[in-house]
Amino acid sequence: MFISFEGIDFSGKSTQVKLLENYLKDQNKKVKLIREPGGTEISEKIRKILLDKENNHMVMETEIFLFSASRAQLVREVIRPSLEKGYYVISDRFHDSSTAYQGYGRGLPVDSIVKINNLAIGNTVPDITFFIDIPNEVAIARKAQRSMSDLDRIEVSDENFFERVRNGYLKIAESEKRFRVIDGTKSIEEINEMIINEINILEGVNK
Ligand code: ADP
Ligand code: TYD
Repeated sequence: MFISFEGIDFSGKSTQVKLLENYLKDQNKKVKLIREPGGTEISEKIRKILLDKENNHMVMETEIFLFSASRAQLVREVIRPSLEKGYYVISDRFHDSSTAYQGYGRGLPVDSIVKINNLAIGNTVPDITFFIDIPNEVAIARKAQRSMSDLDRIEVSDENFFERVRNGYLKIAESEKRFRVIDGTKSIEEINEMIINEINILEGVNK
């Protein structure tokens, strides 16, 4: 099974990815965790360029191709071989991040992003995508607890940008059946339970 996690920065994705990994491993499942952008030697090099604050003059067209280049490599080098070997692949962000951030957030035409995504991932689409949804104020409060020097090039974007990204995710959720919108203001444990429940439903365990 291929599972992706989406949401604006600080929504709690990484926390939930780790909890789900532990749950599946306790069930003796083989799990492969990946983080976007990155996950292969080439993709990690691209990640450095993308998140480097010195690259503050990067144009949005460059940004979409770099994210997609990193993803294309990851799909063929790691995701497909892992799925073929029976692993649960859990990805902290995937192609919906490009639609939400570069499309709805930056303002590139969403139909072009969809085409670029298709080329980068082919038919390697997640079986289920958890969109952990938090209002911008919650993200701002969580972000305030981090020092500015810890934030990457995209995390330092202004609040309106993240509002557009969040609304973009909500639009994608309306048209994608694989999307599960999760209330990210619930407790860490409650969210974990909701996610496990959804996965069990998908696997037919609760039939
Ligand atoms: P992301 O990977 O989406 O950026 P993280 O998992 O790193 O988010 O979480 C961002 C911050 O919010 C961390 O300090 C984390 O402990 C906290 N956090 C995560 N989930 C919750 C939650 N459900 N309620 C309150 N705080 C949370
Ligand atoms: P990362 O440190 O992985 O952030 P997070 O822990 O919040 O997932 O940095 C990834 C940043 O890149 C994040 O701000 C979201 C952004 N991003 C895009 O803009 N487009 C994309 O396609 C992807 C995968 C990430």
